[in-house]
Amino acid sequence: MLHIDILTVLPDLLKGPFDHSILKRAQQKQLVELEIHNIRDFTTDKHKSTDDYQFGGGAGMVMMIEPIDNCLKHLKSKRIYEEVIYMTPDGERLNQQIANQLSMKSNIAILCGHYKGVDERVRQYFITREISIGDYVLSGGELPAAVLIDSIVRLVPGVLSDETSALFDSFQDNMLAPPVYTRPEIYNEWKVPDILLSGHFKNIEEWRHNEAMERTKKRRPGLLND
Ligand code: ADE
Repeated sequence: MLHIDILTVLPDLLKGPFDHSILKRAQQKQLVELEIHNIRDFTTDKHKSTDDYQFGGGAGMVMMIEPIDNCLKHLKSKRIYEEVIYMTPDGERLNQQIANQLSMKSNIAILCGHYKGVDERVRQYFITREISIGDYVLSGGELPAAVLIDSIVRLVPGVLSDETSALFDSFQDNMLAPPVYTRPEIYNEWKVPDILLSGHFKNIEEWRHNEAMERTKKRRPGLLND
């Protein structure tokens, strides 16, 4: 069982993505537990602030260390984390290998940043791993956290059936996935490749491998050197 705690100031942003399809079923099958925690519930001041002006001046508020520390202390009294992850554009770039690694853990916490970021001491003393979902800046870490969690959860053993197995996903062996087709066989005179209708399993597998290789060479040649 993989347990993921998500720390955020915008819990509502995260409710939708986990309530559908594969992520929902993974929770129903009790293969994964996702818990969203509102950092605001762990403030001690009367205004319930979670952010403040930055020392030295400059635009943008910074998330304060105390509510995050309180939230993590509360959670760490229940679980021992293998990773405490901070979603940030200057983290290591998410890829399939990182998703594979994290899918084998039992307890992960994910902190979603906001505003100008978090007090650097949070990163120094609480965070074990920083992850970016790409070289662009989003308004907060919630959507990146949802992307990360989706990429992890679908790899947890038992979440996908044999039919939908992640083994054949793009990137799983440093290759992009081959093209796929469904009914009808002919649409607007556009035909499905004959080989897929041939029933020759071995030839079909060979065709898929070749198509995957061609696609990878053309679109992402760098993957083949990794
Ligand atoms: N927070 C804001 N932008 C982000 C990104 N690209 N990746 C991870 N966290 C972020």
